Amino acid sequence: MNKLAIIGGSGLTQITGLEIIEEKAIETQWGKPSAPITVGKFNTQDVFFLPRHGDPHLIPPHKINYRANIAALYDIGATHIIGVNAVGGITTDMTPCRIVIPDQLIDYTHGRIDTFHESNLSEVVHIDFTYPYSISLREQLLQTANQTNIDVASKAIYGVTQGPRLETAAEIKRLEQDGCDIVGMTSMPEASLARELGTEYVCCALVVNWAAGKTSEVITMEIIEQNLSQGMSQIITLLGALLDNFE
Ligand code: HPA
Repeated sequence: MNKLAIIGGSGLTQITGLEIIEEKAIETQWGKPSAPITVGKFNTQDVFFLPRHGDPHLIPPHKINYRANIAALYDIGATHIIGVNAVGGITTDMTPCRIVIPDQLIDYTHGRIDTFHESNLSEVVHIDFTYPYSISLREQLLQTANQTNIDVASKAIYGVTQGPRLETAAEIKRLEQDGCDIVGMTSMPEASLARELGTEYVCCALVVNWAAGKTSEVITMEIIEQNLSQGMSQIITLLGALLDNFE
């Protein structure tokens, strides 16, 4: 049976309207996830929820135990995962408060533990990662957005940076030359770990600022938080509508 999990990012530590049935503190062979997993009901549908940065939000992107998070969701029975991510907008369509469902990524992170296939191997594993986000779950999300009249960008390349600092203007120029439309810090190794376990994984991103050098404005936490609180309610509506038809 298919079960959906939501990994909340910045601005989504708790889901308004989620009826909490149980909080499960899980320990995996890779360590503890960022927080106990909430087993709940949203719009009467079963869902799991895990805040990526912990609750309260204290774990920075480069310190997240991505393996424990994905393994815990897998162990509890999640077959599908939607990772919600706050990102910076690089190309002109990627305006603050816009929801983006990327179809590709480029990984610029370093030093993160990014595989389950590391030791005690019986064979060397190379997953196919041509399309890093689940084609079928992306399609469901895009159809839901269309049916509910929620404006989303239906294609984008997500450049995943190491953080926790934001980028320089030159780094963003380079990302743009590489083809990136948005920039964030958390879609990797989450996406590839989910693929390693055979879980359908997509990213639902919210643009919370123009990336470095794209405007003359300094990027402040106030700007980011303001756009987060403005845009996150649309994401919650979209996820609720997806769950209504999720089988
Ligand atoms: N860069 C990287 N990560 C981010 C940004 C950004 O501009 N905004 C939100 N997450």
